[in-house]
Amino acid sequence: MFSNKNIIGVFDSGLGGLSVFKHFLKTLPQYNYIYLGDNAHVPYGGKSKDVIYEYTKEAIDWLFAQGTNLIIIACNTASAEALRRIQQEYLPKKYPGQKVLGVIRPLAEAAGQNKKLHKVGIIGTRATIDSNVYQTEIKKLNKKIKVYQISAPLLVPLIEEGWTHKPEAKNILKSYLQPLKVKNLDALILGCTHYPFLLTETKKIMGKHCLVPNTGDIIARSLKNYLTRHPELKLKPSARPIVKFYTTDDIKQFKKLGEKFLGRPITRIEKIKL
Ligand code: DGL
Repeated sequence: MFSNKNIIGVFDSGLGGLSVFKHFLKTLPQYNYIYLGDNAHVPYGGKSKDVIYEYTKEAIDWLFAQGTNLIIIACNTASAEALRRIQQEYLPKKYPGQKVLGVIRPLAEAAGQNKKLHKVGIIGTRATIDSNVYQTEIKKLNKKIKVYQISAPLLVPLIEEGWTHKPEAKNILKSYLQPLKVKNLDALILGCTHYPFLLTETKKIMGKHCLVPNTGDIIARSLKNYLTRHPELKLKPSARPIVKFYTTDDIKQFKKLGEKFLGRPITRIEKIKL
């Protein structure tokens, strides 16, 4: 049974969502959080829509069972392939009145509403790129904008292995970005929450004229705004906020890389089965 415990739930297929969560902790440090990484099933990016939906649904059930008042899917792939169905079919039936948000809308708005941008690139997992969701959302806001998309399936496993600083990772990133670089883009959106861990390298490759926005910061500011507009969620600031982490795979690996990615210690962590 759902019980309101004053917690924000954050979900990703693995460690990538930490690039967003880091900014939640910075922008909205007064709340209690549960972060869930489905590391046992990562990467989601090459899986079918139905499988991504099933995994996401299980994560949502688990997070609501912990008493979360609101869930953020800090995963582009799950946001692209499962969020709409969850919001339109699953929530009204199983959790009427409860809210689950994704990460694509705020990023698409940041691109589509910026009048200085004429050519925008999107880099994401195969599932996100094939869904065409960024192109659709951005074009709703600015029909004239040109959107170029590339999927980069090898990056997520490299990041989950902690290979971000290895030359092999940089070379693979460079190969993926090459077709976008030649388009002389005004901006490149990192449409996968894992990729910000390669932000410095990405900026270097794309050059000074190409804006590579800090996606975690945009999503955190959008959440802050959402919370002020939705007092009915009954999320109250906590005097001593609690942050808990859960993974569906090895705790040691999550802690080791997670602490590096978050830049702070992970003290409360448990393994769960979805
Ligand atoms: N971090 C995720 C995303 O934003 C998923 C990566 C994956 O599991 O393939 O797309």
